[in-house]
Amino acid sequence: MKVLLTGAAGFIGFHLAKSLISYGYDVVGLDNINDYYDTNLKKNRLNILNSIGMSFVKGDLSNTELVNSIFNNTKLDYVIHLAAQAGVRYSIDNPFEYISSNIVGFQNIIEGCRIKGVKHFLYASSSSVYGLNTKIPFSENDVTDSPASLYAATKKSNELVAFTYSHLYGLPSTGLRFFTVYGPWGRPDMAYYKFVKNIITGDYINVFGNGKMYRDFTYIDDVVNAILKLIPVIPKIHGLGSVQTEIYNIGNKKPHSLEYFIETIEAKLNITAKKKYKDMQSGDVFSTAADNKKLKKITDETLLKNRKEVNINGNGTTGYVIKEGPQKGKVLKHIQIPTKNI
Ligand SMILES: NC(=O)c1ccc[n+]([C@@H]2O[C@H](COP(=O)([O-])OP(=O)(O)OC[C@H]3O[C@@H](n4cnc5c(N)ncnc54)[C@H](O)[C@@H]3O)[C@@H](O)[C@H]2O)c1
Repeated sequence: MKVLLTGAAGFIGFHLAKSLISYGYDVVGLDNINDYYDTNLKKNRLNILNSIGMSFVKGDLSNTELVNSIFNNTKLDYVIHLAAQAGVRYSIDNPFEYISSNIVGFQNIIEGCRIKGVKHFLYASSSSVYGLNTKIPFSENDVTDSPASLYAATKKSNELVAFTYSHLYGLPSTGLRFFTVYGPWGRPDMAYYKFVKNIITGDYINVFGNGKMYRDFTYIDDVVNAILKLIPVIPKIHGLGSVQTEIYNIGNKKPHSLEYFIETIEAKLNITAKKKYKDMQSGDVFSTAADNKKLKKITDETLLKNRKEVNINGNGTTGYVIKEGPQKGKVLKHIQIPTKNI
């Protein structure tokens, strides 16, 4: 099974690529390794992925010719589109980055999927599409017509385009609304990295919303497992427009306050943070919390059973063997990633 994974050098893409390969998928990664954050981190992630057999194309999603050449030269079963300009606050000062990557780039990818008729197109959306909604927890059935940032508006637009492509051309698609994903090898622009760094160096941390904002945090392994489960779940034809498209919240319905978040870091580091309390920034929302009932109903684990644990060379090194598909019989060692990112 061949998969095009965009954003493979990114945080979620890195962890997903690693798991996809370990379950026997043949992964082609695409990323422009942009400098939104430290490119060494992205390169180090890629080194690990290259060492376990991922093919990689360095390039920009907004380059139509390049994207077309990938679709023309590779027979793809699935496309998992994670590459995007992320970040809510950055979109206030850099609007065109979002139009180029999240709108033009998305269009190039979905067009490739349509023309080549991929089995299933999965793409990253975001909890930010719930925008100014106040009903908690957020459900996939809620109206999402009030995005609070350009970032959120581009993600909502992706969902609408995916709907139209399913209605007009029968392209099966699944939108993944991620809720604040965290974990090792994570994004240095996110609060947990910035706070830890500043607390250790004795710098002030900015506590926006005066610490009263709430976020639903989702551990990276849970996100990866959710995506692995959803890949073979091709949406059924349903509803208005007879579409084959679905949207899932990928979150856990247990929001924590920013205050609690900081207290936890302080306790782990055994250092009291120097805090500057500030009002909420424009583009931010007060709270996120995922109703995840829909995701919990997904039980298709066929592909997850495609590997068998083995002892390699009988010397106690553990690994696994791929049972079916193009990589059948391939033996892979368990991949140990260093806990330190760079
Ligand atoms: N991490 C989260 O908490 C979170 C929450 C909601 C949604 N998301 C979405 O999930 C996806 C992955 O997020 P992430 O946290 O891994 O972010 P990330 O920034 O670590 O990864 C995105 C990757 O896409 C690449 N990229 C960006 N623009 C590109 C372009 N024009 N052409 C080619 N490559 C490009 C970047 O170089 C980066 O490696 C994104 O679409 C993001 O919007 C993430």
